[in-house]
Amino acid sequence: MTLTSVWRDRHPVTAPGEAGTLSGDWDVVVVGAGITGLTTAGLLARAGKSVVVVEARHVGAGTTGGSTAKVSIQQGTHYSRVARRHPASVLRKYADAQTEALAWVARFCDEHGVALQRRSAYTYATSASGVRSVRAELEALHRAGVEQATWVDDLALPFRVRGAVMVPDQAQLDPLELLDALAADAIRHGATIVQGARVRRVHGHAPCTVVTDAGEATAATVVVATNMPILDRGGFFARAKPARSYGLAFRTPERAVDGMYLSADAPSRSLRDAPVADGSGSLLLVGGDGHKTGGPTSELSHLDGLREWTHGYYPEAVETHAWSAQDYVPHHGLPYVGPILPGSDQLLVAGGYSKWGMTNGVAASLALAGRILGGHQEWASAFDPWSTRELAGLPESARVNAEVAVEMTAGWLRPLRGLASRNELGDGEGEVRFDRVGTPSATSRTDGVERTVAGVCTHLGGVVRWNDAERSWDCPLHGSRFGPDGEVLEGPATCGLRRR
Ligand SMILES: Cc1cc2nc3c(=O)[nH]c(=O)nc-3n(C[C@H](O)[C@H](O)[C@H](O)COP(=O)(O)OP(=O)(O)OC[C@H]3O[C@@H](n4cnc5c(N)ncnc54)[C@H](O)[C@@H]3O)c2cc1C
Ligand code: FES
Repeated sequence: MTLTSVWRDRHPVTAPGEAGTLSGDWDVVVVGAGITGLTTAGLLARAGKSVVVVEARHVGAGTTGGSTAKVSIQQGTHYSRVARRHPASVLRKYADAQTEALAWVARFCDEHGVALQRRSAYTYATSASGVRSVRAELEALHRAGVEQATWVDDLALPFRVRGAVMVPDQAQLDPLELLDALAADAIRHGATIVQGARVRRVHGHAPCTVVTDAGEATAATVVVATNMPILDRGGFFARAKPARSYGLAFRTPERAVDGMYLSADAPSRSLRDAPVADGSGSLLLVGGDGHKTGGPTSELSHLDGLREWTHGYYPEAVETHAWSAQDYVPHHGLPYVGPILPGSDQLLVAGGYSKWGMTNGVAASLALAGRILGGHQEWASAFDPWSTRELAGLPESARVNAEVAVEMTAGWLRPLRGLASRNELGDGEGEVRFDRVGTPSATSRTDGVERTVAGVCTHLGGVVRWNDAERSWDCPLHGSRFGPDGEVLEGPATCGLRRR
């Protein structure tokens, strides 16, 4: 079964734009056509900058096209996570950024005819420890200035809930409908979108040269909006954990949920509805079961777990789509938005949204556009990647990077097991084995075709693992992903696995 998000199915050709070559001299090159890249491009083009967006695949090919797309200032238990690491002043700035971004999205949708549904957002508890987490979240929201957050005892859900925090009047939408409108608006204001051009490197400064496999261009400023920055300068790959999670869509006779829900307890469960175009019934979207990319557990089993859970509580729901997507969770809890290195304002990055990029991606764009155009948002300092607050994440970064080092060693030892087995691969299976010269080779069988590629990630040498749900090779170190042919699906890697 091919995994496709309900949004990608609804928008098979996602945006207008120019497929082809990159050339010329620009004020700004934006790398990546997700919510961050397209919002940034539109803001800059409206201000009269010459802008080109360079996208490796197509508009919405990244995480935005697989998002649950709740546009909400209420975000699971994220405020308490930020509050544990940062002072109240930073927490308030984080909330202000979310509020401004939600208002911006609502205004943009209203002005451009993008459908948006207003819903209350809930974080709910099903256990005693969940109740403690949700209580802490309510306190953190109040400390952040989100006064409208309240405690609710009873929810209209088909399982026992011990209470929830609720914020009214949040939003949900189809993220690819939004991206299409953002792309059209950027083009209308003079921006160019080049799709199918993967950026391999950026060199020089003032101007920077952006090198792709479909030509190159120079620019005074480059904005890297690839979720995880594809450039290693700044070491962002070591500051955040790549996390995959799953989405399922089900047809239901009528709206199955009256709000946007997220569990505080693990495994996470996310619920929202989505209107159906012809008005016949509704869709129930169920998400969750997040885990670190390239983990040891079968990805299919995560998806099946989510399926089983849904059928237990919504027996009438009929599955229509299943998919998976990836976001990055920074160790210090806040997005990184700003120069790739201190003082290098010609090369800017944005990402690390902890699965809340529908607001944070827009906030990042507002902050980046402000930086380039000379504007100022009071809250933008909370996202500065080089502030001393970054230190708040250092102990966690050190711990996670120690785990990465252990995984690196384990990855190189794992193929030794393959030496003993060497089983025939069934369809949809993949295995990393040592080849005759002693380096890991990754062999998979999909649709009856066996392919072998190098088993070592082109980013920094992690040994890849087979993802049995998406039929891809995933790197457990920093989350790069590759197809069975070795082509790059997601960075930070910019080069594919060599075919053997
Ligand atoms: C399952 C899931 C559910 C989520 N649900 C929500 C939600 O309900 N609400 C919410 O707020 N957030 C949610 N998020 C998070 C949110 O979707 C993301 O944070 C956000 O979409 C990231 O947007 P982006 O533009 O930064 O990155 P992306 O959308 O990933 O865009 C980056 C683009 O860069 C391109 N690219 C990469 N490398 C290169 C290169 N070398 N050259 C050129 N182009 C390149 C990619 O192809 C991609 O199109 C969810 C995330 C996941 C994983
Ligand atoms: S993603 Fe960094 S080594 Fe693979």
